[in-house]
Amino acid sequence: MPDFQLAQRLANLPPYLFAAVDKAKEEVRAKGLDIISLGIGDPDLPTPDFIIDALCTAARNPANHQYPSYVGLLSFRQAVADWYLRRFGVSLDPQTEVVSLIGSKEGIAHFPLAFVNPGDLVLIATPNYPVYGVTTEFVGGIPLYLPLTDENNFLPDLDAIDNDTWKRAKAIYVNYPNNPTAAMAPRSFYEKLIAKALEFNVIVVHDAAYTEMYFNEANKPLSILEIPGGRDVAIEFHSLSKTYNMTGWRIGMAVGNASLVKGLGKVKENIDSGIFQAVQEAGIVALNQGDAYTAELRGIYRERRDVVIEALKKAGISCRIPEATFYIWSKVPGGVSSQDFVTRVLKQTGVVTTPGNGFGTPGEGYFRISLTVNTDRLKEAVLRISQL
Ligand code: MLT
Repeated sequence: MPDFQLAQRLANLPPYLFAAVDKAKEEVRAKGLDIISLGIGDPDLPTPDFIIDALCTAARNPANHQYPSYVGLLSFRQAVADWYLRRFGVSLDPQTEVVSLIGSKEGIAHFPLAFVNPGDLVLIATPNYPVYGVTTEFVGGIPLYLPLTDENNFLPDLDAIDNDTWKRAKAIYVNYPNNPTAAMAPRSFYEKLIAKALEFNVIVVHDAAYTEMYFNEANKPLSILEIPGGRDVAIEFHSLSKTYNMTGWRIGMAVGNASLVKGLGKVKENIDSGIFQAVQEAGIVALNQGDAYTAELRGIYRERRDVVIEALKKAGISCRIPEATFYIWSKVPGGVSSQDFVTRVLKQTGVVTTPGNGFGTPGEGYFRISLTVNTDRLKEAVLRISQL
């Protein structure tokens, strides 16, 4: 059998972070260890019944069995617009400022195809969701990574970027609440970012998948679109995955500047054929009726967060107390590398975590815990880690 040569763009690409974590987990599981999975941010709790019921009803409707609309049902896009108005006070035109996605990962991955030319500079705040950089490189763009550190509160130092770099940049990727650091961005950060983007004609790509996973009602995460000028320069990616425990359903949306939304839609028309309409119908129900459910989820994650923070403290492992997301970004104890620590933890205790350097160089020295198991298992996980 011939061994076909991979395209250049894949030849030197390391395995996708969470595929590598999964592979290591399965190897350890095969040895019989009891696995506690705090790796990928995949909620353990099921999608609630009211959303599943909506899917079942819609799945029985033959009108939903044909090719869906490329940009999404207008009723789904309207539900997105209604939710944005309710949650952020942002009024969107569902016809031009909203496009449905097969999960936000899909939209983020396809975005560079619409706007990045070979040789274009793309600024990416890092540590970061790996998809931003990989797909920039797929289209020949050149990522320039902006380090997020404890010292800068995990916000890129926009003033440290010289004017020449701003002039050459096509886009800047930011993500708040941030995965993996769990940091939030204040209004002043978005104001400065928008001012720079307007001055230098740079697209702002905001991954906002975690805006609903917050713990402080008095300090809710912002949409960049609610800041003056935001809707001129930004496209914001959102997902129903974390907000309603729908990771497997593959449904999300991109909203914002109409030309950015249209460009992404044009790529998608040529690549996919939309989201199964029954899933969109269920998405409408989630967006319209899911606020109370999401509030319940926040309570669950808050309890889990507190349990882990307490246990880490007892174990002498330092971390910041996150105000949002369901991740804990912890310092690796004992001066070993992120990868060595995470591998040792997995092999000796069966606890799966994610190495900080997997999200980019400034993540070295950290590991990420996902709060995706119940409090008893979380306590057990930290206990095992502390007894290493
Ligand atoms: C993560 O664990 O970083 C995310 O869940 C991955 C994803 O959303 O694709």
